[in-house]
Amino acid sequence: MRIKLKDKYFEDFIPEKKIQAMVEEIAEKVKNTYTEWDNIVIIGVLNGAIPFFKDLVFKLPENLTIDFIKTASYFEDTKSSGRIRLLLDNQMNVEGKDVLLVEDIVDSGLTQSFLKEYFSAKKVKSFRVCSLFYKSVNSKTGVAPDFYGADIPDYFIVGYGLDYAQRGRNMRGILKLSDNQDD
Ligand code: IMP
Ligand code: MG
Repeated sequence: MRIKLKDKYFEDFIPEKKIQAMVEEIAEKVKNTYTEWDNIVIIGVLNGAIPFFKDLVFKLPENLTIDFIKTASYFEDTKSSGRIRLLLDNQMNVEGKDVLLVEDIVDSGLTQSFLKEYFSAKKVKSFRVCSLFYKSVNSKTGVAPDFYGADIPDYFIVGYGLDYAQRGRNMRGILKLSDNQDD
């Protein structure tokens, strides 16, 4: 599939089936890591994490609690601005909680390190990051997410929550920016 989102062309990269297998694998790892599900708060990073978050929590035990936070670093572009802004705070008191942050992708790693400090200040018991994708080649922090589905090359991707200028989030598979942008 080749589609145009706003002014750019995207092509197939990872099919829906593969994504679902990745989510299954991550859920197993998460389940093997925690025991005290009552103390866990799974925090989705809006908006990108929504589809992954939804599919992941359905595979985890019932006693966990969920919450959301919203940050921004990309502004209508395919490159990170390098600045992280908190757009929406989470609602629950997380002091003493085991926080598992759910991200769509860890790219430069700046959002992840920003949120790690942010939640440390809220005196959480533990803080881990679960991201569907990790672009290790772009990492500015050298810190990998605790759980991730795939380490991908430096492609700009959309779908399954990930956007280009807010488009493309509502696709079940992942597409990447085409090398050829000719009409
Ligand atoms: P980081 O702070 O550079 O690690 O990037 C965090 C955020 O940038 C992610 O949560 C995404 O919202 C966005 N982002 C990074 N890479 C991509 C991409 O390839 N496609 C769409 N959004 C991306
Ligand atoms: Mg995001």
